[in-house]
Amino acid sequence: MRFPGLVDVHVHLRTPGGEHKEDYHTGSAAALAGGFTTLLAMPNTQPPLVTYKNWRIAQTRALKESLCDVFLMAGASEDYIDELPTLAQNAPALKVYLNDTYGPLRVEGIEPLRRIFQSWTSSKPIALHAEGESLAQAIAMSAVYDRKIHVCHVARKPEIEFIADAKARGLKVTCEVTPHHLFLTEADADRMGPLGDMRPRLGTQADVDALWQHINTTIDCVASDHAPHTLAEKGISGDADNERFALGDLTLKKDPPPGVPGLESTLPLLLTAASEGRLTYERIRDLLYTNPRCIYTLPEQPQTWVEVDEKSSYTFPDHPLYTKCAWSPFEGRRMTGRITNVVFKGKTVYQGGKVLSF
Ligand code: NCD
Ligand code: ZN
Ligand code: ZN
Ligand code: ZN
Repeated sequence: MRFPGLVDVHVHLRTPGGEHKEDYHTGSAAALAGGFTTLLAMPNTQPPLVTYKNWRIAQTRALKESLCDVFLMAGASEDYIDELPTLAQNAPALKVYLNDTYGPLRVEGIEPLRRIFQSWTSSKPIALHAEGESLAQAIAMSAVYDRKIHVCHVARKPEIEFIADAKARGLKVTCEVTPHHLFLTEADADRMGPLGDMRPRLGTQADVDALWQHINTTIDCVASDHAPHTLAEKGISGDADNERFALGDLTLKKDPPPGVPGLESTLPLLLTAASEGRLTYERIRDLLYTNPRCIYTLPEQPQTWVEVDEKSSYTFPDHPLYTKCAWSPFEGRRMTGRITNVVFKGKTVYQGGKVLSF
């Protein structure tokens, strides 16, 4: 079976400032190994991409150092609102953090938020990290200032239902969910410790069921929220592979950073769900290609496709991971659906478990 080159609209590639976790080269290799040929990368780097100068430097490097197409979102900061009109002309979208999460970016209060929405003078979307009450704030801003918003990593039943209501009302709202929120629950978080910790946190079975109920309707995209942190940062000592998840192996750190990698497991998980009849292969194409390209107006990639063997079963991962952090919350999971090769702009770049351009 063949898919077009897939799009992941939410990844953290950690350049600049966090290159020990990931960089454009390793992150884009992980993308190709996972069937993705276009990435939208987040601005919560060090320094964060809140000025046109820093965004431009990073975007130039991304184009040079990546093995697939990588577009960088601009970040919103109360201190750099003047930069937004220029960023709006250049970046594919603006990212606003309304809750605490990993990284230096956070916007609080009605006044900075209304100035940000007024200064983003573009029909390009404003993507938001907006959990709980912040979601209501985000949707209110979208309605009042008539801006397209895209809600990142929706993870809770009331939140997906509220977005469904906003869409029914005709508001310009789109959203994504992550594979970890579709395939894991808080019971897994208890078992996995820091390796199952991310923002938003894993939900209840009722939350997961609600997300699946909206998979063919309210949910526009599946995005990995690929958020690599090293095992050492997560507080995992010792490297005996099969004991990684055993709590006895953890020297619990006070505040391990939230986030899990996902570029290489997203498509296998969705293919597995399709093999079980939980969604269709056509819907995977909508969620990972058609809708992402439409929401962010992404360029076409000629002679680019992903070949999968949808019948092939294996234990994930079936080859060493390319992400620099070198672990996955889905290690050891049975998957049905293997990425056999990826062709990027006329060249075979992934085959037999190897990124040939790496
Ligand atoms: C992300 C990160 O590590 O950058 N972490 C996470 O838990 N999702 C930040 C984010 O996407 O909120
Ligand atoms: Zn987030
Ligand atoms: Zn993220
Ligand atoms: Zn593979």
